[in-house]
Amino acid sequence: MTDSEAQDFPLPYASTDLSGQVALVTGASSGLGRRFAQTLAAAGARVVVTGRRGDRLKEVADEIVSTGGQCEPFTMDVTDATDCVSALDHAESAFGTVTILVNNAGIPDAQRAHKMSLEAIDAVIATNVRGPFVLSCEVARRLIAAGLPGRIVNLSSMAAFNYTGNGAALYSSTKAAVNRMTEALAVEWVRYGINVNAISPGSFASEMHDGMVARVGDFSQRLPRKRFGEPAQLDSTLLFLVGPSSEVVTGTVIKADDGQFPR
Ligand SMILES: NC(=O)c1ccc[n+]([C@@H]2O[C@H](COP(=O)([O-])OP(=O)(O)OC[C@H]3O[C@@H](n4cnc5c(N)ncnc54)[C@H](OP(=O)(O)O)[C@@H]3O)[C@@H](O)[C@H]2O)c1
Repeated sequence: MTDSEAQDFPLPYASTDLSGQVALVTGASSGLGRRFAQTLAAAGARVVVTGRRGDRLKEVADEIVSTGGQCEPFTMDVTDATDCVSALDHAESAFGTVTILVNNAGIPDAQRAHKMSLEAIDAVIATNVRGPFVLSCEVARRLIAAGLPGRIVNLSSMAAFNYTGNGAALYSSTKAAVNRMTEALAVEWVRYGINVNAISPGSFASEMHDGMVARVGDFSQRLPRKRFGEPAQLDSTLLFLVGPSSEVVTGTVIKADDGQFPR
């Protein structure tokens, strides 16, 4: 290694310091999103937590601020494009241009495809695909205008790759769309220094997951490691994807499923 390499690339080149970054997390009122917001704030980012339940967002923001982090709650519905723009306006006036977007908000279908109402179909597509697409474009537009690099992390699911017919046909289809969106937007925005990646979790404890366990029973003992994941076990994957050391990683979907699903 030359001296200049040693200076540019400390050993190991693996910082997770997010000071100076502004993050917006959707679906931060519960589950994985709540943990993601706490993790980003602990790593030094200024964080805007969003979702529909304002009381929950205030709780999360208060908790982050009480532990020395910087956080602002903003109530929004990702299916409403006007809300998406307002959330980014709010983040920008509170903290500056959003440089990290975590598209985490998502809903399940939890029923057989042929039994779904048109309203339910539209809601799943609007929340899981249209919302993240609209937000990603709005974030990219602002980053490009400001000449700043950025990171977008989408929440996919192992359901994008595997489906066993258990009432998640549309959910599975939307998460496959999230994977393709991750790849396509990464290619489109690589020239602007915007990296787009996705995390594909297996079964992790959350409100959505509790709902599934209530419907189908506790299947943890049938999993290879006989356990569900804990949101904290995704911290390192998130920090890798938003941190400076993953600058050459884009258009990738990281499977973080504790080996629960076949390959
Ligand atoms: N947990 C798992 O095992 C697992 C596995 C694979 C993938 N995932 C993915 O991980 C992400 C987080 O899920 P989770 O398990 O943490 O579920 P969760 O606890 O139910 O959290 C979902 C979040 O999305 C928000 N949300 C839903 N609809 C919204 C809307 N229209 N506008 C704004 N926010 C909305 C909810 O907030 P409000 O209700 O306050 O709006 C909530 O905070 C989802 O994309 C999910 O598909 C989870």
